[in-house]
Amino acid sequence: MIVLGIETTCDETAAAVVERSDDGRGRILSNVVLSQIEEHAAFGGVVPEIAARAHVEVLDTVIAQAMHEVGLGFDQIDGVAAAAGPGLIGGVIVGLTTAKAIALVENKPLIAVNHLEAHALTARLTDATPFPYLLFLASGGHTQILAVRGIGNYVRIATTHDDAIGEAFDKTAKLLGLGYPGGPLVEQQALHGDVRRFPLPRPMHGRKEADFSLSGLKTALRLEAEAIAPLSDQDVADLCASFQQAVVDVVLDRLRAGLKIFRIRFGAPNALVAAGGVAANQAIRNVLQRLAAEAGTTLVAPPMELCTDNGAMIAWAGAERLALGLTDTLDVAPRARWPLDEIAAAKGALQRTAAYK
Ligand code: KG4
Ligand code: ZN
Repeated sequence: MIVLGIETTCDETAAAVVERSDDGRGRILSNVVLSQIEEHAAFGGVVPEIAARAHVEVLDTVIAQAMHEVGLGFDQIDGVAAAAGPGLIGGVIVGLTTAKAIALVENKPLIAVNHLEAHALTARLTDATPFPYLLFLASGGHTQILAVRGIGNYVRIATTHDDAIGEAFDKTAKLLGLGYPGGPLVEQQALHGDVRRFPLPRPMHGRKEADFSLSGLKTALRLEAEAIAPLSDQDVADLCASFQQAVVDVVLDRLRAGLKIFRIRFGAPNALVAAGGVAANQAIRNVLQRLAAEAGTTLVAPPMELCTDNGAMIAWAGAERLALGLTDTLDVAPRARWPLDEIAAAKGALQRTAAYK
């Protein structure tokens, strides 16, 4: 089964062709990603209208290249998948409408993929990870712990009350004048900084529910920076190191709580899976490795280019759905918001807190 996947929910314009064999194994045949980082860098973050226009300009070329690299025509694929949300709605419309056009003209099945579901299923493309597993999804827009129990069967164990982890890295970088995107720059600075110099908080520490909160950490960092301004190079490195260490400690504590909840509700997970751009951070990867060992399971951390947004994950989620006959009609709507676990999202964190106290 060969599926074309299209991703346009944020600032990457991406298309890929993926093959799924009958035994459920996956293979990436092409994977083209065009990043818009330069278009947004001057603004210190993604500007939705600029993103949507940039997707319109390059998406057809990106798709053509993904198809050309495989040497197949549209008539030779088995389905077209596009991320239908959640994300910046202008971009989502561009990708989904393009997929609909191809599906209509070529008379192929359309699969409207949830972007978070695609992150969640990437471990099955790279490592054929069996259900159920615990997913730690940490990007610029999301910080979630999910139980992945089957295709379309996701239970959100935890989310963030305020900022996403990647967002906290980006805001820290902006505050310290490092540039965008902030994660890799903060990580670089932290390499030669002192993790103990600034006593930053570890929000939510020790709570039984596994939710995150990052905004207090961000504020504390700003106050420390303002107190010693103007900042020397060493000050910046020490602030970055102290910040990153606080995040690492938070991830350790929150995931321990998440793993406990997972065990109580679903038994032992088959893996701890990391996804999203933040999983590129080596200090965070190290702590995930430690957590997996502690929990008697293995860490599955897909290669960097599959942790960040890409078309292969959309194509793969499409293939997994198509294999089960889960296709969509041409009137399927793009969605800015689309929680993976709509029920958990509706009930909110409070009830979950009560349940695990
Ligand atoms: O998954 P992604 O490419 O896009 C979405 O946000 O959906 O994640 C990008 C985020 C940015 O906030 C970026 O600063 C963060 O991931 N990031 C990192 C690192 N590399 C990227 N955060 C910490 N350390 C890194 N090395
Ligand atoms: Zn993403």
